[in-house]
Amino acid sequence: MKKFYIETYGCQMNVADSQVVARKLVENGYVLAENYKDADIIMMNTCSVRANAEQRVLGRLGLFHGLKKTKKDLKIGILGCMAQRLKEKLLEENKTIDFVAGPDSYRNISELINRADSCERPLDTILSKEETYEDISPLRFNDKNHITTFVSISRGCDNMCAFCIVPYTRGRERSRNPETILREIQEAVDEGYKEVTLLGQNVDKYNWNNGEKDFAALLELVAINFPQTRIRFATSYPQHMKDEVLRVIAKYDNVCKYIHLPVQSGSNAVLKTMKRGYTREWYLDRIKAIREIVPDAAISTDIISGFCGETEKDHQDTLELMKEVAFDYAYMFKYSERPNTYAAKRLDDDVPEEVKSRRLTEIIELQNKLSYKSNSRDVGITFEVLVEAHTKKSNKQVFGRNSQNKVIIFDGTSDLIGKLVKVKVYDFTQATLFGKMI
Ligand code: 5AD
Ligand code: SF4
Repeated sequence: MKKFYIETYGCQMNVADSQVVARKLVENGYVLAENYKDADIIMMNTCSVRANAEQRVLGRLGLFHGLKKTKKDLKIGILGCMAQRLKEKLLEENKTIDFVAGPDSYRNISELINRADSCERPLDTILSKEETYEDISPLRFNDKNHITTFVSISRGCDNMCAFCIVPYTRGRERSRNPETILREIQEAVDEGYKEVTLLGQNVDKYNWNNGEKDFAALLELVAINFPQTRIRFATSYPQHMKDEVLRVIAKYDNVCKYIHLPVQSGSNAVLKTMKRGYTREWYLDRIKAIREIVPDAAISTDIISGFCGETEKDHQDTLELMKEVAFDYAYMFKYSERPNTYAAKRLDDDVPEEVKSRRLTEIIELQNKLSYKSNSRDVGITFEVLVEAHTKKSNKQVFGRNSQNKVIIFDGTSDLIGKLVKVKVYDFTQATLFGKMI
């Protein structure tokens, strides 16, 4: 029996996809390897969102190339967004790679491996308008603690933001049959999972059967069907996030009070060149709606520094917006031009590297302060925490997240893992809350 190993890079969607691949392989008689060294087939499920994500994977190939010298039959596969973006080029430029499978080709994965075994170096990067893998039960091999997991509700993206590779690597937007979503959540619950994150590149555009079910309806359906399960979702999109979704979040205790709403920039000029489809004012109105309808929600965002044409004033607008919203958390990036995107074809990547870096540093420093302030407000408050594991440092301490997605560390024993407990916060850093179980 051949053993396979999958390394996953990039977003949560890739984590979920690797589980689909694993299921397909196990169904076809392959066995999951504990370690890449034991594997007959090593796959990397890759990300193309920034140049450095791709560099890491290419670097890693060097190691696998070395392994092949001692293990003649070892096969190396590239899956995911890099596979889709680079296609044949991967095979041409890297003799180490034996097969290439794009995000919509995982149904055929064992066939591709068979062909690789007969030294064909196959490639399948056909994007589909329908594929959602809805009938495939993911093999949740890479969930470390068996407490929290992902369920994909839609695939692809039609937004076409100027900077973004995703529409090219993951294809057109499509929504998954809600019944199969419920079935998959039930399976996770049966396996003991306590928390499920519904995944889509843009969950707010979930649309089943021409408007029969939108995201608000789906979220409510899930919340009602799984009252004992914590429900999260990602990612929301400012242009499409409706108040109705916020009302569902507010109405159900098991829907977590946490919204990840990428803003990317606080400048209207930049938002326009980015083709984001909303203005700063619109974004702030969405934040206002969250504050009104879900007052205890935490809000995080994504920010890109140094996009094409970004001036010092634009950058200041971003800093101002960050302060105005007072984000609880942010993921912050330097703009990285991606081949074939609108920005690569039509816009000048004209902000010098050192300016991008300096602006990013300013953004990070400001967010550090905002996160610190956000955490300081939690002192004295008692939260419900889903305990995930022991901390790395001590087996007398455990950690978990509150509904707002903040990590809380407190004294506790193994039997708490997987349980919902009440923890009162007494101290904090910018990254973590410290509490006591009550
Ligand atoms: N350069 C830098 N960051 C990017 N992102 C997407 N494309 C790029 C790019 N070309 C960021 C956005 C997005 C997050 C997933 O990655 O902020 O929300
Ligand atoms: Fe990376 Fe985007 Fe692909 Fe996810 S969808 S793996 S973030 S490029």
